[in-house]
Amino acid sequence: MDMLSATLGRVKPSPTIAVTTKAAELKAEGRDVIGLGAGEPDFDTPDHIKDAAKAAIDAGKTKYTAPDGIPELKQAICAKFKRDNGLDYTPKQVSVGTGGKQILYNALMATLNPGDEVIIPAPYWVSYPDMVLLGGGEPVVVECGIEQGFKMTPKQLNDAITPKTKWLIFNSPSNPTGAGYTREELKALTDVLVHHPHVLIMTDDMYEHLRFGDFEFTTPAQVEPELYDRTLTCNGVSKAYSMTGWRIGYAAGPEWLIGAMRKIQSQSTSNPCSISQWAAVEALNGPQEFLQDWCRSFERRRDLVVSELNQCKGITCPTPDGAFYVYPSIAELIGMVSPAGTAIDSDEAFATALLEEEGVAVVFGAAFGLSPAFRVSYATSEAALTEAMTRIKRFCAGCS
Ligand SMILES: Cc1ncc(COP(=O)(O)O)c(C=O)c1O
Repeated sequence: MDMLSATLGRVKPSPTIAVTTKAAELKAEGRDVIGLGAGEPDFDTPDHIKDAAKAAIDAGKTKYTAPDGIPELKQAICAKFKRDNGLDYTPKQVSVGTGGKQILYNALMATLNPGDEVIIPAPYWVSYPDMVLLGGGEPVVVECGIEQGFKMTPKQLNDAITPKTKWLIFNSPSNPTGAGYTREELKALTDVLVHHPHVLIMTDDMYEHLRFGDFEFTTPAQVEPELYDRTLTCNGVSKAYSMTGWRIGYAAGPEWLIGAMRKIQSQSTSNPCSISQWAAVEALNGPQEFLQDWCRSFERRRDLVVSELNQCKGITCPTPDGAFYVYPSIAELIGMVSPAGTAIDSDEAFATALLEEEGVAVVFGAAFGLSPAFRVSYATSEAALTEAMTRIKRFCAGCS
């Protein structure tokens, strides 16, 4: 008898976590490693949010809560959707989970049947295909290359839809590219979806607040109200409020789906952490002004890494609209040999050689479904970024 489930055999561990672990191992050995792999802001959680958590502990708010969130947080989420996105939801249409990840997972587990297809534009966040596989569904990956700004075209979407399509997963600004869809680009996609009423839309708006310049954030149910009844609008406090460790994500959508997600959650984690929920109430209801400072800081770092990477031999790096990632192409380096003599025959080989030879940890593009490329997370100090860029430049210059 197999001790492990057949389902487990269908999924792989998170490659981003693998890179972070490898970088930590090298550091523990005394190597000077700069980590550009982590998917979290380097800012501390703001004090007013921490204070709300401390007050919750002191007030004894330390017990089980309703499975999918306390009423106060659901109210704050409804107010957020109205304020930021012009979307009307009632608390019955809201689910709170242990991070954005659990929200997406609950929704897929609650809806997928064997053979159901889920359209995932690539490059994609690493967890989407594996979550679909865990739920017994089939990921349908649509490659959206650098030449199309890493964004799916309406024709690609239309061609990918079949009678078996259950979901489209949409993510803007994107992890790993930082690419954001303009209102017009999104409307062109929602115009396609209007003609396919059996398709549900899962929009992962996790990086909504991390955006630059005049990029305007929009979300499918806002751009096309006809899709409201079949859209799950997902978001969370992890990235915007630098609360990755607090584990609070949320979504709003049709009541039938929210109820199904509640059922899954009630039989798995019971409820998200009570203290974190009170902290999230403060994050959403409290001051938002600091976000502008954070965005300005990320924008400066984005400009630094884009400019430096574009000066590296063999690298082409587009300028993203949001999040804290860039996704440069290394097409011109494939077929070369690294300074220490490693064949660069894939982006994984490139990332491994860069880590071993220069002590810079990045995540290879194959992990995100589009090669040859790599992801840089620039959520680290400008000093560390400057040093990392010097090393990458030296590494690329030495490739031949
Ligand atoms: C696009 C995207 N969605 C969801 C998540 C999950 O967020 P959380 O930490 O709230 O589970 C991440 C985290 O990296 C992400 O990048």
